Formats: sequence, C-alpha cells, structure tokens
Amino acid sequence: MFAPKLLRWYDVHARELPWRIPPCKAAGTRKGEPGQNNQLADPYKVWLSEIMLQQTTVAAVEPYFRNFTERWPRVEDLAVASLDDVLTAWAGLGYYARARNLHKCARFIRNDLGGRFPDTEDGLLKLPGVGPYTAAAIAAIAFDRPATVVDGNVERVISRLFALADPLPAVKPEMKRRAASLTPQERPGDFAQAMMDLGATICVPRSPKCMLCPLSEPCQARTEGIAETLPRKAPKPERPTRRAVAFWAQRPDGSILLRRRAPEGLLGGMMEIPSTPWREDTWSEGEAMSHSPYAAEWRELPGMVRHTFTHFHFEIDVWAGQVARDTEALPESKWVPLEGLANEALPSVMRKIIKLALKQTA
Ligand code: ADE
Ligand code: SF4
Repeated sequence: MFAPKLLRWYDVHARELPWRIPPCKAAGTRKGEPGQNNQLADPYKVWLSEIMLQQTTVAAVEPYFRNFTERWPRVEDLAVASLDDVLTAWAGLGYYARARNLHKCARFIRNDLGGRFPDTEDGLLKLPGVGPYTAAAIAAIAFDRPATVVDGNVERVISRLFALADPLPAVKPEMKRRAASLTPQERPGDFAQAMMDLGATICVPRSPKCMLCPLSEPCQARTEGIAETLPRKAPKPERPTRRAVAFWAQRPDGSILLRRRAPEGLLGGMMEIPSTPWREDTWSEGEAMSHSPYAAEWRELPGMVRHTFTHFHFEIDVWAGQVARDTEALPESKWVPLEGLANEALPSVMRKIIKLALKQTA
C-alpha cells in the first residue's frame, strides 16, 4: 500500500534532475507499454550521477554533471579521456579515489564489456568503485530492476515510517529489510527515486512536512509524535587533528614545485604542495626541515591553513623558500608557473595553501 501512494505522489512532484527521465505520468502502468513513457534513464548518466552524489548534495553535483556529460557524452568518451583531465574536472567534488575509480570503470566498460553497462545488481557490483548502494541504484533506475536502494534520505524515511528507534549504524540491516519489504515489482526505479525525493523535500531532518506527505496516514513515527527525533545516531568519536608543514618552493622565474601524491590513499594521484608527512604530533623546526625538498632559507609564513576531512582535522603551516633558477624538479614533481596553477588537478586543501602562500609572499 506504500508504493502506489508514493508513486502517485512522485508522478506529480518528482524533482527535475539532469540525469533523470521524468516519471511515467500514468500511475500504475508499466514502463515499456505502448503510449506510455517507456524510456529508461541512460545507465552512463545514472552511474555518473550516483558516483558524484555520494556524500555531496544535488545542488553541488549539477554543474559537475553537466560539464562531464557535455565533455564526455558517452562512457567510451570518458574512457579515452586522460586521467589528469578527469581529475581536473572532478576537482572540488572531493574524494579523488572516486574519480580515479570512475575513470578505471569507464575503461573497463569500454575495453572489456563492449561499452555496455551490466544490467543486473550482481553484474554492476563487479565494476570498479561500484558498491552495494550504487549497484542497487543503477539496477533500479537504469534497468527497472526491483533492487532495494537505501541512501541517507531513504534511511530517514524508513526509520520514521516504521518508528525504528535503535541507533545507526546498528539499525541499518533492519532498515534494509524494511525497505526491501516496500520495494514494488512495478516501477521499482521510480519508487527508489520517489523515496529519495520524499526524504529530500518532505521527510526532511528538521520539521518534516507530514501535512504534505503521501505516507502520513500509515507513518508510525508521525502517529507517535517522534518523527523529528529519528533516525537516532550512536555518538561519533571525536575527529583527531593531524599536522604538517608544507613547502612553498619558488624559483626566480616564479614557478612553484608541485608533487604528485602516491596513487593509493587520501587524495591519491593528485598534485600537492610538497609537505612533511601528516601526523598528530606537532613538528619541530628541525624535524620539519629534514623533509624539505631543497636546502634553502625556509621562512615560516604567518597564518595557518585549516581543512577538515571526513575522519580528521588538518592544520598546515606553510614555509616559503627561494631556490636557484636551474633547480631540477624532484621525482614525481614538476615546476609550474604561477599562472598554470589554476589548470592543475589540485584538491581544495592545496588551493587553500596556495592562497595563503600567494597572500603572504606578494
Ligand atoms: N541522491 C542519490 N541518488 C539520487 C538520485 N538518483 N536522485 C536524487 N537524489 C539522489
Ligand atoms: Fe516523514 Fe512525516 Fe511522511 Fe512520516 S509522515 S514519512 S515523518 S514526512
């Protein structure tokens, strides 16, 4: 009884998003029947949007999605793009491992699968960078398979519909079972997106709009008056703070030393301002100096850069040093003219370091 009510609501209130096909307007009819909206969304666009939307908002993703699909309209186009171009276009979305997996996945689909996405959840799960959530979302949205799609919005809706009072993350398996019990055989792709839209526009974290909700009648949390308190969350451990000293090495022609990070791990494969390792202990001058790229008169710049990653806060002191005109780049490093910095695939934290250095050395 939930699904038909929700689908009728979605037929009228679906958000218009660039990766979507509008819902079949004739509620209760099956996609694929003559005279109906029988199109399914392009799997490439669904995949790309789902990867981009992980841990980011729809508003933040839209311009990136438009740029990617204009530049690379098909998965084969993305597959033959250079990794650096993809990382540069991704810069600002964060979590660069996802961009590298995106490129790897595109090449796999082009080279090993003849350019076609697998059309089942199991097949999709084998793709690089595609986990259980993304596989379910693509199977449902692009192939209309009755997969159960549970993201943060859906968790909130489910926890309220069934008044699940146990805290996250322990309650996740229960949420998944409840969500599966609601997933219909008819229009499962629209159902998945309707749950997301309900969570994003009606069943919002604070002050859910139960008066406008198509599921208010059967909703247990609304009946009990506890909707706003759900879902409950187990308290989070505090984020630690890590520290580093970054080295702003400049030649007389103005160019700056950039270094490529190791391919694995945080910001893997991205360019960076060379630095000491990142650690919780503060750095003494002597310790930091032993990691400097060149012998030079290093001068500590006033101010400090702060940045917060998912699992830790990061504080960076910046030291500036002049080196001789013929100084060679180190392994995995290169000299980049100041005007060229804008074109580099630099993560946000590195842009903050550059901003401070430019301000303090001007
Ligand atoms: N968040 C994650 N996937 C989404 C989708 N397909 N539509 C809207 N919001 C989403
Ligand atoms: Fe959420 Fe309220 Fe709808 Fe329940 S009735 S699903 S709490 S908006």
